[in-house]
Amino acid sequence: MSRAALFGITLTVAATCVATAEPTEWKWELPKYVPPPRVPADNPMSEEKFQLGRRLFFDKRVSGNATVSCSSCHLQERAFTDGRVVSVGSTGEKTPRNAPSIVNSGWHATLTWANPALVTLERQMENPLYGERPIEMGVNDANKAEIVARFRNDADYKKWFAAAFPEKKPAEQISFETIIKAISAFQRGVVSFDSRYDQYLQGKIKLTEAEQRGHDLYFGEKAECHHCHGSVNLDDQFVHAKTREAETPFHNTGLYDINGKGAYPEPNHGLYDITQDPDDMGKFRAPGLRNIAVTGPYMHDGTVATLEEVIDIYARSGRKIASGPNAGDGAANPLKSPLIVKVDLTPQEKADLLAFLKALTDETLLTSPRFADPWKTQAAGK
Ligand code: HEC
Ligand code: HEC
Repeated sequence: MSRAALFGITLTVAATCVATAEPTEWKWELPKYVPPPRVPADNPMSEEKFQLGRRLFFDKRVSGNATVSCSSCHLQERAFTDGRVVSVGSTGEKTPRNAPSIVNSGWHATLTWANPALVTLERQMENPLYGERPIEMGVNDANKAEIVARFRNDADYKKWFAAAFPEKKPAEQISFETIIKAISAFQRGVVSFDSRYDQYLQGKIKLTEAEQRGHDLYFGEKAECHHCHGSVNLDDQFVHAKTREAETPFHNTGLYDINGKGAYPEPNHGLYDITQDPDDMGKFRAPGLRNIAVTGPYMHDGTVATLEEVIDIYARSGRKIASGPNAGDGAANPLKSPLIVKVDLTPQEKADLLAFLKALTDETLLTSPRFADPWKTQAAGK
């Protein structure tokens, strides 16, 4: 069954089944090469929870001053990134880092650019909601009750929370605990495995000659991309329902070297900011590269504007910044991963690599009504 057909059916089911309070069973529709993600035992998936989470993800009323939603910084048409160098929160403050995609985030061993302690979507969400340095959504002890009341006083939301959390008493159905659980369920359900690369993996199409050459470079020992971006999500922190021990590598890719000893500029030192271990300076998680052509600008601080530039940086094994406060040659960074080595890529090879990266764009993800803002269309909002 196509996603669109399934969508139509589940909507009808949800609308008629509210009274019976049995959540609709969740089915992962994934290609054979993708195992289902981890789902916390206390937050099982259901269609009703996914749909409630979608409404909340796109709803500005979740923020303190009702001006910002999760979707303000995670836009569907940009594969749930925001196109900015760094993001801007509800009070105008800038975040220190670039907004990553939330797509396929149910399979990430750790979340955000460099934090080994953030291992669930539920826990990660406390950052944008409650974070004060910087303020993103501005939820705090003074306004929490008021925000919850916005949803308790909304007849539609009351119905939707009841359908998503039938196991809870009515008085406990609407809270920040259930808001976080529902949005997490939505995020686990935002999956992207319908790019040309997927159609190729499923034997449905052939890649173009350029894409195929780029693919071979990417997965070969010349360009080495696959060592850090080699899972089905094209990262190296891929966990799923049956993973016993998660691997959580972080890497310094030589984006900076501002003092000849490997320093990265304020306020982003990567893993070092958490561990204070000098060897962790500049280490970040390798992001999944799905939909990478639409998620620029790139890197943890959004300082690389285009994929062409990304490829040039890898080819010379680090970024050289000629002048200004961040001047230095990242290629000489002593803390750089040994996998980042100079690669003599011809202009043709660079173009091939780019063609392959562009084949990772999933138009279904970018346009599917299933992942779209439900408040834009009356029918889906109800
Ligand atoms: C003001 C912009 C902004 C808002 C609003 C926002 N985010 Fe984010 N989001 C970011 C940035 C920036 C990061 C990267 C944080 C870091 O690495 O320190 C991020 C990271 C994430 C990640 C981690 C993705 C990954 O690959 O590890 C998830 C998941 C996420 N946000 C979900 C949400 C949810 C859910 C909401 C709403 C409750 C939300 N975000 C609201 C900007 C925002
Ligand atoms: C040693 C591991 C490693 C290797 C090898 C590697 N990458 Fe990366 N990649 C990373 C890390 C870590 C980041 C994030 C770095 C940062 O933000 O400071 C990254 C970031 C990226 C980004 C930007 C992602 C985003 O969302 O902003 C792209 C594109 C990318 N890599 C492509 C490639 C390609 C193409 C190759 C092969 C030529 C490659 N990578 C090889 C680890 C690696």
